[in-house]
Amino acid sequence: MEKVLIFDTTLRDGEQAAGGMLNIEEKLEIARQLDKLGVDIIEAGFPISSTGDFEAVQRIAKEVRRPIICALCHAQAQAVDAAWEAIKDAEHPRIHVFLASSDIHLLHQLRKSREEVLERARDMVARAKAHTEDVEFSPMDATRSAPEFLYQVLEATIEAGATTINIPDTVGYAVPQEFGDLIEGILHNVPNIHKAVLSVHCHNDLGLAVANSLEAVRRGARQVECTINGIGERAGNAAMEEIVMALDTRKDRYHLTTDIDTTQIYKTSRLVSELTGFPVQPNKAVVGANAFRHESGIHQDGVIKAPVTFEIMDPRRVGVPASVLTLGKLSGRHAFRDRLAELGYTLDDAAFARAFAAFKELADKKKEVTDRDIESLVAQELRTSSEIFHLEHMQVSCGSHTVPTATVKLKGPGGEMLIQAAMGDGPVDAVYRAIDSLVGLPNKLVEFTIKSVTGGIDAIGEVLVRIESEGRTFAGRGASTDIILASAKAYLNALNRLAVAVKAAESD
Ligand code: KIV
Ligand code: ZN
Repeated sequence: MEKVLIFDTTLRDGEQAAGGMLNIEEKLEIARQLDKLGVDIIEAGFPISSTGDFEAVQRIAKEVRRPIICALCHAQAQAVDAAWEAIKDAEHPRIHVFLASSDIHLLHQLRKSREEVLERARDMVARAKAHTEDVEFSPMDATRSAPEFLYQVLEATIEAGATTINIPDTVGYAVPQEFGDLIEGILHNVPNIHKAVLSVHCHNDLGLAVANSLEAVRRGARQVECTINGIGERAGNAAMEEIVMALDTRKDRYHLTTDIDTTQIYKTSRLVSELTGFPVQPNKAVVGANAFRHESGIHQDGVIKAPVTFEIMDPRRVGVPASVLTLGKLSGRHAFRDRLAELGYTLDDAAFARAFAAFKELADKKKEVTDRDIESLVAQELRTSSEIFHLEHMQVSCGSHTVPTATVKLKGPGGEMLIQAAMGDGPVDAVYRAIDSLVGLPNKLVEFTIKSVTGGIDAIGEVLVRIESEGRTFAGRGASTDIILASAKAYLNALNRLAVAVKAAESD
């Protein structure tokens, strides 16, 4: 069977999703797990976009050695060179150059003629090629581009050295048959297309990203760009787990294979959800909490008699744990480390020591510590690893006939201690007011949700907040058995992301 290359862009397009913003440690953790999952290419970021992105790509390039590490750049000399600077230490580096090719973008955004775009695409691919052999080119908004012009751009960029040609459905406009026809059209009309791998990159605005990607591989594309859990810009990108499992489950139709270790899918999905703060909807295909749950009596009866009656995939094939394992206060370092590895975390010694201490503290409060608890507390540790403002201490007084009052102590950017007290409508409001006056970053709280990680009175509470500042959204998560503390951590997490963005904007 022929192989389809899996190009993961969770750390680039996925991270572009509203509210997303991973710190370097979180990105590394995801990159290591993508390596275990067996992806062929990791698009690690867009180095010219910010200093933080540059550093993250550089760290991943140095530390994750098996897959190709790809850096994105727009078709501009400085951006191409920055992409190369960030990945030059990778074992297998790739530069990915993009430039819009649709008349809509040429007219309204680039304000360039077709000739100018053709020349720039060719020049920037050649510039990338002078850095490395492995160069990918994407004509942005390809599905709304005039096919004859698209063919011309592709021929020119392959001639200039592109070894992968990626066709993005940037705005998720295409429908499957049309997209398949475009792929076939490229294969028939671009004379040198056999010198490059043909790739696709589909967005999900009409809910068709996976269908379009599958149709494209059926018609000859051999690389698919996708993200874990389908996260990404607007409605997201094609979901990797769905594409891989469709190819695997329906190999009778596709006759194609991938190098993905499907048993790593579930833990990768959990890890990405925990670290990005984007929950997976329960009915999500392949990785949703209900994906393998049978409610109707007839279905349950069938599955007990023979799973094949109502199950098209064995949950073990995607790594869904057969039973829930729990740890307790007597569990030692070994058991904790094993469980972390099972869940897809590869912490360095310092992070492991902090996570283990947090686990011990939790195990003292909670009889049984489940996988979900562990995921939650490790994610909490990773979030705090590179904070600008760190919560040192918090005290709240509230109740009936009391004005809710909070005192908050933070460690600031230079290690200084900052203390403030505030009153509010409720305990969370009081804490947030105190934090606001210490951090001093104007924002609007647009979402606040709280949920319990597991059942039981001693469960960890997980808080998700979204704040808005100057048109950008920043998500924050916090977890603790104390929900006011979880709320404070979540807010501070979102503010830290905002602070990173402000700092990046100042330094760029
Ligand atoms: O959607 C898109 O067009 C992109 C390109 C940068 C490949 O993400
Ligand atoms: Zn995209």
